[in-house]
Amino acid sequence: KSCVAALVAGLCLASTPLMAAEGDAIVIKFAHVVADDTPKGKGALLFQKLTHERLAGKVKVEVYPNSTLVGDADEMQALLDGRVQLLAPSLSKFDKYTKKLQVFDLPFLFDDEAAVDRFQKREMSRELLRSMADSGIYGLAYWNNGLKQLSATRALVEPKDAAGLAFRIQNSAVLESQFSAVAAKPVRLPFSEVTKSLQSGVVQGAENPWSNIASQQMHKFQPYITESNHGVLNYMVVTSSSFWTSIPFAIRSELEGILLEVTQMVNREAAALNRRDRERILASGSSQLVTLTPEQRQKWRDQMVPVWKAYEEEIGADVIRAALTVNR
Ligand code: LMR
Repeated sequence: KSCVAALVAGLCLASTPLMAAEGDAIVIKFAHVVADDTPKGKGALLFQKLTHERLAGKVKVEVYPNSTLVGDADEMQALLDGRVQLLAPSLSKFDKYTKKLQVFDLPFLFDDEAAVDRFQKREMSRELLRSMADSGIYGLAYWNNGLKQLSATRALVEPKDAAGLAFRIQNSAVLESQFSAVAAKPVRLPFSEVTKSLQSGVVQGAENPWSNIASQQMHKFQPYITESNHGVLNYMVVTSSSFWTSIPFAIRSELEGILLEVTQMVNREAAALNRRDRERILASGSSQLVTLTPEQRQKWRDQMVPVWKAYEEEIGADVIRAALTVNR
């Protein structure tokens, strides 16, 4: 308005208002390591779409899938340095900043995905969103992917079948202990290297939800997939506290509303996407499905569950107890 008045008075530089509008847009770089056609990939794109519809000219969202901007080894530092503004790392990748989120990595802790979903809505999980505040990391939401399945070059029916095999793991001490518990060899590798490491034989096995196996074509090199549902792979959407609080209140509220909507979509559809990818993998004929009897599954559970005790002090017995109450 004041510029219009100034323009009338011949004082306004013609290009200023437009340039300023373009230049003033807040840019949010949302980087992640998976493909677009996955729960997280779809979530990032929907966040971009809704933001561009509702905050046109005010906020611009750039989505970088497949580790194209940053990978999981350096994404958290990039967030703190302001090179990216939104990430959704798996809950396994925060142990440098808080030990409490390791609760999500404990094998066989949650009976099913619905139990995890309930836990994510509990007060304890709300508190965990703030557990990295001291490091300047602000948790915004939990996004589901799904339960992990064991895949390998040989059929994993009982824990002894995993002995001696090298399994790719995320950067997580709990997951390291989980595989050591069955005498396997855990190897920490960034997500972008998993498929080629399976192909070259650096590792012979892995653990992933169906959607990650399918979208990275891992199954081509994993002739056996055991439907173990032994652990969770979900995400926390995070930003840096300093960036988030620098956003004007009205815009931030709108962004938080959009995120809530996207979170509901992701968490409603993640299970169906995993079911679709399970079917695709099995239809491709690349891999044989190994289904465990209750007794066989119990053997894996018995061997892996002692890991809980080893991490109880770090995570907090109260956090583990709160998680266990969601099983029915
Ligand atoms: C992994 O590294 O296996 C996952 O965290 C990748 C992802 O973001 O789903």
